[in-house]
Amino acid sequence: MLANGELAIGGCAVTRLVQEFDTPLYVYDEVLIRDLMRTYRQPFEERGIRSRIAYACKAFCTVGMCQIADEEGLWLDVVSAGELHTALAAGFDPARICLHGNNKTDTELQFAIAEGIGVIVIDNFHEIETLHDLLERAGKAVDVMLRVAPGVDAHTHEFISTGQQDSKFGFDLYSGQIEQAAALVREHPALRFVGLHSHIGSQIFDVEGFRLAAERLAQLCVLLRTKYGMSTEVLNLGGGLGVRYTAKDTPTAILTLVRELIQVTESAFASHNMALPLLMLEPGRSIVAQAGTTLYRMGSRKEIPGVRTYVAVDGGMTDNPRPALYGAKYEAAVANRMRDPADDLVSIAGKCCESGDMLVWDALLPRANPGDIVAVSCTGAYNYSMASNYNRIPRPAAVLVAHGRARVLVRREQASDMHRLDAPLTGAGALPGVDLGVGTLAAEAAGAAEEHAGARPMTAGAAEGHAGARPMTAGAAEGHAGARPMTAGAAEANAGALPNTDVGIL
Ligand SMILES: Cc1ncc(COP(=O)(O)O)c(C=O)c1O
Repeated sequence: MLANGELAIGGCAVTRLVQEFDTPLYVYDEVLIRDLMRTYRQPFEERGIRSRIAYACKAFCTVGMCQIADEEGLWLDVVSAGELHTALAAGFDPARICLHGNNKTDTELQFAIAEGIGVIVIDNFHEIETLHDLLERAGKAVDVMLRVAPGVDAHTHEFISTGQQDSKFGFDLYSGQIEQAAALVREHPALRFVGLHSHIGSQIFDVEGFRLAAERLAQLCVLLRTKYGMSTEVLNLGGGLGVRYTAKDTPTAILTLVRELIQVTESAFASHNMALPLLMLEPGRSIVAQAGTTLYRMGSRKEIPGVRTYVAVDGGMTDNPRPALYGAKYEAAVANRMRDPADDLVSIAGKCCESGDMLVWDALLPRANPGDIVAVSCTGAYNYSMASNYNRIPRPAAVLVAHGRARVLVRREQASDMHRLDAPLTGAGALPGVDLGVGTLAAEAAGAAEEHAGARPMTAGAAEGHAGARPMTAGAAEGHAGARPMTAGAAEANAGALPNTDVGIL
């Protein structure tokens, strides 16, 4: 804080930051980001344990951020072609990038293979076959890990926990899916198995979930070695280490938690007389969340006597959707008047057309006036990443500050960017229409139906194409709708699922 009661971030006064870059503005503290990246590496280095720290760039992915991770010797975890493009634009060596995702498209896999990705974390059976086919066609091989759902609930928010058994991510441990997956991978030489991955959730405050996951993974490593001769060179325990958003959050310090995590993993492997694999972690939130602060300008004030006072800022759920998505909590301050008594109980609203567009409920702030600067802290992770243009509100700029100097990470979108990709229906720039009328399709479908039904009749009276070929219920002559009726008399099952649409069934 400066002598005049003004907040400074990275040695830059907030009034100067907003003067120069306008609001809303994401401000990132470079020193803190680099410190945290080094903190992750330290416990491994001090013990001489082989490790790999990958920054999960989904938390905040920009070219500059990838360059920082690169300079700090980290790997990157990416989950889409867009993130991979960003990393490559940053000059990041693809051999130090790990590709995740529960539904990687063929295009994404092809792109990653062509660029020489370091490792692909396989998430499901479909991906094993797809990846194998693509590699065969390309005449290449790639290092792969298998993502395990170890059945550990990290006691985090329901919507962001991913390690439990009922999850869309990874191969389930208990039903034996992971074993089947390993056996399949072993049959495909182009898939070079290097190890296992698990990510048990996010915003995790202590080591217990990791202990359980490490124990189960160590057992699995034994099984893969003894039954399939597959050796786990790398064990990736994911990210998920928590941060303090408000005073109610009490996460273990990163240094301590990483030390504990190493300890529990070591003892899990020691108990099976197994050498410790190279350990990999992929933190996102805990690297950037606390380094980020969003600056807003205060606008309108609405006092409802005996109920509540709303003060509104010039951003909201478009730059920070987490409160609306997860009920996430934040703390705020009037950043140009840090020394003033905080005696005004207000709720900070955004400017979007949604009642749920609230940033902070019931905050005690100094009485703020229009134009005052409101700072919301700990907004560095999953804020810019999840930002939207709802109400056609441009996304803010992001700047990196250190030692009194600010550098732009992301430029501010302008109102004109909001319709940059729009195509007018008339006048200059209108695109020609594409003729996709159902008339042609209906004729094609009828022809195909006759052919198909005639070629492989599996049941009597099967002249009606696909429906007739595999009727699963009586009276199933009505296509897919008839094939899987979920309720009695559900001849229109699939069509019925889109009641408000003009559905034409061919
Ligand atoms: C596979 C995987 N790794 C790493 C992360 C990063 O988690 P966090 O940002 O909580 O550290 C995530 C987050 O969703 C993830 O799904």
